[in-house]
This record gives sequence, structure tokens and C-alpha cells, in this order.
Amino acid sequence: MRLAVIGTGYVGLVAGAGFADFGNDVVCVDLDDDRIRRLRQGEIPIHEPGLAELVRDNLDAGRLSFTTDTAAAVKGADVVILAVGTPMSEHDGAADLRFVDAAARDIGRALTGFAVIVTKSTVPVGTADRIRAIVAGETKHEFSVASNPEFLKEGDAVNDFMKPDRVVVGVADERAAKTLRALYAPFVRTNDRIMVMDVRSAELTKYASNAMLAVRISFMNELALLAERVGADIERVRKAVGADPRIGPKFLFPGPGFGGSCFPKDIRALAHTARGAGMVVEVVEAADRANQRQKKVLGGRVRDHFGGDLTGKRIAIWGLAFKPETDDIREAPALTVLADLREAGAHVVGYDPAAMPYIKAQVGDAIELAPNMYAAAERADALVLVTEWKQFRGADFRRLKDVMAQPVVFDGRNIWDPDTLRGLGFTYQCIGRAA
Ligand SMILES: NC(=O)c1ccc[n+]([C@@H]2O[C@H](COP(=O)([O-])OP(=O)(O)OC[C@H]3O[C@@H](n4cnc5c(N)ncnc54)[C@H](O)[C@@H]3O)[C@@H](O)[C@H]2O)c1
Repeated sequence: MRLAVIGTGYVGLVAGAGFADFGNDVVCVDLDDDRIRRLRQGEIPIHEPGLAELVRDNLDAGRLSFTTDTAAAVKGADVVILAVGTPMSEHDGAADLRFVDAAARDIGRALTGFAVIVTKSTVPVGTADRIRAIVAGETKHEFSVASNPEFLKEGDAVNDFMKPDRVVVGVADERAAKTLRALYAPFVRTNDRIMVMDVRSAELTKYASNAMLAVRISFMNELALLAERVGADIERVRKAVGADPRIGPKFLFPGPGFGGSCFPKDIRALAHTARGAGMVVEVVEAADRANQRQKKVLGGRVRDHFGGDLTGKRIAIWGLAFKPETDDIREAPALTVLADLREAGAHVVGYDPAAMPYIKAQVGDAIELAPNMYAAAERADALVLVTEWKQFRGADFRRLKDVMAQPVVFDGRNIWDPDTLRGLGFTYQCIGRAA
């Protein structure tokens, strides 16, 4: 099939390269000239395991190409995939559909015959109707608008995309259903995990999934705070609760609050959709409030440990990306921790295996960046672990203790063993485990 993918971010680039790998002829479009220039040379602008090889193989095979020209990409395409950003709008938390609208206009102008326009971006219920109206205003050709929400996880995006748990497809007609079934058939050969439904249900499914995961995290974060107050250990509680097959063990890890480009904006957008429909999604709004509180926990603990003032203190942060194996810092909890530490007067030194260029670009001199994890901890009065990259798990604590000014550790992800650290003479705090 001939595909055009609009937007080459985490979703568009992975989807474009993934579809090309299954033999489709894929043209990816982005407005960002520099990004497209780099991609043409096989240079990957994001950190995502396995993506560089996938893109280069398919570039070399001539199945994947990159352009800034939407019209050229859409010309003759059977399927046009929208993978542009849908950020949170500043004022009311709604999804900002500026990029979707603009892309829909460009697509409408560029159509040369029938195509299925597929929204992979996360968009509020009703957006397919909006896209249909915009495209219809620009073209005389027939087209169909479908929803195909993306469930990939940053950090494991290629695997998720190539071996999806399920493919959700929302369609308004049989022609679009047939096209999308054919497109996804090679991805789901072992068993049929393509779920075809109406467009609105597909649009809502994506928000329901993200909201469910966000609620689980906020729920456990809240219980972790309670566990501390009542003298319980959240790690024991987590394992026992997760052993119930009705609940399952995933997404129950307490931490410094969730961030990233999806959960925070998607739960706000869902709450906004609900309010627009005349109701309040109480559970979802509470998950958001609990997360705002949780993001302040780590910074507050460091401040309290030093008596409320961090002037003259050097504090190290390990892990700046919103989660391991990505360079994405959108809404990262580390940004809140950094702001809170700075506000209390600290000098902050950070290290992250992938996200440092982005942190530098966003906060400039507000943080000193170190070339490796131990260099960040040198002469530090405390170390705060915010993101659980693998290399931090096996830290050499003796070396760490040697380089630090004071052996004080705040483990924001409960990755270390409290007894080991305390045994080595560290003052150790984590989340939800009464000391
Ligand atoms: N990042 C994730 O893990 C993830 C997972 C599932 C779904 N989603 C959803 O997918 C969508 C895209 O997310 P992302 O993280 O890939 O976004 P992103 O911000 O990384 O990338 C979006 C890209 O689209 C480009 N763009 C914007 N308007 C364009 C236009 N008119 N024509 C061509 N290119 C255009 C931008 O330049 C940018 O490179 C969002 O709706 C997001 O919620 C993201």
C-alpha cells in the first residue's frame, strides 16, 4: 500500500518505519526542515531503542522517504496517517487541535483520489467529524476518515508497534475497514487482535486507556503516602495487591508522579470533554490532583531534611527524562523537583543518559549537567533519584559515598534496598516505606 504519514515525532516516525518494514511504500512528512534533512541521512532525532536500525533499513530499501511537502506525500496515497501533536491548550486543558486542523487542510488540498485519512494522534471524541468537515471543504475527491489510536510506549515503541496487543480501528464505512484490516493484517498474524468499531468509541478508547493507567499510578502514589503515615510498607502492599489476577502487577509502582507527553494532557483533555458533555469525571480529575501533589513530594522531602532551606547546598538529580529509555522531558517530574530545589536555594547538578540536551535547551543554566552519574554526585549534599534508568539500579554505593559531601539519598522510585543503603551509612528515604 502507499502511505503518507503526517508528523515524524515519536508516533509518526515509529509508525512510518514500521509500516515500511512490512513492505508498504511510506512517505513521512514534517514541517520541520531540519528534522527532515537529518532523517533523510538516517539520523534519528529521538532516542528510541531499535528505531535507528528500522529507519535506516527501510530508507536503504527505498520503501521509506521523508519530505516537507505534504502535497507530494499525499498524492496517490491509499492511506494518510495523521500523527501530529495534540498538546494541552494553555487555558482550559482541552486538546489543542491546531496541528490537526492545519494538517487536515493540507491533506484536503493534496488529495488526488480516494484515500482513508486515519487519525493516530490522540484526539477528543468528535474530532473525526471535524476533520471530515475540514477536508470536505478543500476537495472534491471521495475520502473516509478513520480513527486508529496508537498505544505504543516511549522507550519500547518499536516493539509495541510491531507486536501490538490490539489494534483499535474506528471506521464509518466498510471501505475504510477493509483497507485498515489489510494494512494491519501482517502485524497480527498469530491471532486477530484488530478491533473494528465506530469512530467515537475508538477515539474514546485511547483516553480511557491512558486515564485508567494514570488512575492506577495516582492511586498507588496516594496509598504510598498513607503507608508512610500508618507505618506500612507500600512495596509489600503493591506486590500482594498486584498478585490478584483481577488487578495485575503493572502500573502499580509508586514514584514521583507521572509525566510525559501523554498522561497529563490526556486526562485533562478527557476531563474537558466530560465537562463539555455536562458531567465531571470525578475519578480522573482526582488522579490529576493527586499527581500534582505527588510531583511536589521529592523536592519537599529534600527541603525538610535540610531544615527548610537549601541555600549553599549542592543537590544531585539522577534521571531527567520522564521515564527510562527515552529522551522525552515533556511534563517530566524531574522538572518539578528541579524547580522546587532551586526555589529553596539549592545548586542542582543533573545527569541523564539521554535527555540532557533537551533539559539544557529548556532550563539553561538552572541546572549544571554532569558527564556521568558519579560526576553529578560529586560534592553533593544529597542525591535524588527521579528516573530509574537501568544503570542507576546497580550503582556502586561505596564509590557514591566517597564522592558525595554527605551520604544522603532520596530514592524516588524505590529501586534500592533500604537496608543495604542504611547499612553503608547512607541516610535513605524512599516513597511509601516507613523507616
Ligand atoms: N509519544 C507517545 O508516546 C504517544 C503515544 C501514543 C499516542 N501519542 C499521540 O500521538 C500524537 C503525536 O505524538 P508525538 O509524541 O509523536 O508528537 P511529537 O510532538 O513528538 O511530534 C509531532 C510532529 O508533528 C509535526 N507536525 C505538526 N504539524 C504538522 C503538519 N501540519 N504537517 C507535518 N508535520 C507536522 C511536528 O513538527 C512534530 O515533529 C499526539 O496526539 C500524542 O498524544 C503519543
